[in-house]
Amino acid sequence: MTAAPHLFQPMTLRGISTRNRVVISPMCQYSAHDGHLDDWHLAHLGRFAIGGAGIVFTEATAVQKRGRITHGCPGLWADSQIPGHARVAQFALRNGAIPAIQLGHAGRKGGMQRPWFGNGPLNEADIARGDMSWTPVAPSELPVADGWPVPHALTKSEIGELIDDYASAASRALQAGYKIAEIHGAHGYLVHSFLSPLSNKRTDEYGGSLKGRMRLALEIAERVRSIWPDHLPLFFRTSAVDGTPEGWSLDDTVVLAGELKRIGVDVMDCSSSGIAGAATASGSQKRQPGFQVGYAERVRKEADMTTMAVGLITHPQQAEAILADGRADLIAIGREALVDPNWALHAARDLGYDTTFETWPRQSGWWLAGRQKTSDFYEPHG
Ligand code: FNR
Repeated sequence: MTAAPHLFQPMTLRGISTRNRVVISPMCQYSAHDGHLDDWHLAHLGRFAIGGAGIVFTEATAVQKRGRITHGCPGLWADSQIPGHARVAQFALRNGAIPAIQLGHAGRKGGMQRPWFGNGPLNEADIARGDMSWTPVAPSELPVADGWPVPHALTKSEIGELIDDYASAASRALQAGYKIAEIHGAHGYLVHSFLSPLSNKRTDEYGGSLKGRMRLALEIAERVRSIWPDHLPLFFRTSAVDGTPEGWSLDDTVVLAGELKRIGVDVMDCSSSGIAGAATASGSQKRQPGFQVGYAERVRKEADMTTMAVGLITHPQQAEAILADGRADLIAIGREALVDPNWALHAARDLGYDTTFETWPRQSGWWLAGRQKTSDFYEPHG
């Protein structure tokens, strides 16, 4: 093996060390049963650990039952949900990856259709399938869009319960064996809907000024940090911009990052959009390779914070350049990992770091190295 490129340099975050900078981004599978993971999740997430990623994120996991995005979303609102997560976490650890979990609450987007049934609000066909609707919750009684349910505006005592439930879910995540927790503050879900002036019209201390709108995110982060052990890192996923001039801005994100850092959040995971419509529906932003990297770069520089870049990062050389140019510290791969669960292993080869299968799981690397020595069969991954 040659000297490690940036993408394959280990990273130490508090008391843990990752084998490289490749992170599998959280990706909903809409396949849980009453909030419980099953074999699908073990196989789906397990293949990324086998595939060489440094950190593998379990999808958005609801801290309250009504905080699920769909009926197929997992939770950690009950102890019975811990064992399914423990299997995933233990498998990742045994195969060299750091298991991470994203803790979320869907807010006013709670109780929507699984994507393959339409990705909109639940309708009669979904209810006939057994997916009953529920009243979602939000900062204000404003629906996601026309035709979506009008949410219940959380009272102050319900906000207190929500923060307690974040702490309980984090403590269950810890029991399950996860080593990184991430607060989902993006994509129009509950925390983001409190941050954004487009969805938060409250007149109490949880609304109004930037300080008021940030209050819920900061209180959740503070509570989770207080129970998440000092030696384990805490991430926060942000929608760095809403994509409209009246919405949440990158300047706001830099301020939020500074406050989160003060509380003990270690990594700002910089996504964007989603405050209205589907999860990551863009505002005015053009979707092009690395279109969100600039957000991670600015937060890194101005809030002096470790950042993760995400969004249309598909090529190893592209990921390597982002790190080499000091624009982010970690690279999250989403859909390209669905195309190629061995993305990290192939990236190591493409970057000339491991051309002899040394970093592959021993169950397969030994054989592949042997095949390479004895034949010219191997075609480098294109
Ligand atoms: C996602 N994404 C996502 N984001 C998030 O914060 N929590 C989640 O649970 C999900 N769920 C999810 C499911 C599926 C099937 C996809 C494809 C995406 C967004 C994802 O983490 C990532 O930010 C985007 O996909 C952009 O990165 P890529 O796919 O361009 O690498």
